[in-house]
Amino acid sequence: MSLMWSYTCSVGIEAMDDQHAALMDALNELLAALSHGADQQTVSGCMAHLTTLTEQHFASEERLMERYEFPGLEGHRLEHRALLERLYEWQGKRPVAGYLSSRLEELRSWFHSHTEGADREYGPWMRERGVR
Ligand SMILES: [Fe+2]
Repeated sequence: MSLMWSYTCSVGIEAMDDQHAALMDALNELLAALSHGADQQTVSGCMAHLTTLTEQHFASEERLMERYEFPGLEGHRLEHRALLERLYEWQGKRPVAGYLSSRLEELRSWFHSHTEGADREYGPWMRERGVR
């Protein structure tokens, strides 16, 4: 069984799908680092990379929603903020593999339920307004 996760669902907006795939790659890098017993510096680097990508992706998704006046923006922003707070909290901890591994499953399931739920709601709205 592969330990790697895959990102298969589409929200129908190419740039957002690409960013979601890049986030999944960053999650996989972190997972691989942990499962290969990488040193703390490497794990911290992966964690920092994941956090930066997540910040950039959320900002870009929110800019898109603002621009096209998506009605679900505020609720969506709250979901984003809650996840970022979790990431900052984990980042502040010493990156002990056991601790992070258990958090990673939480992160993965958040990612899937968010992209397959909340993120799917803005796809049709954007597409109706010509965004691809
Ligand atoms: Fe989102």
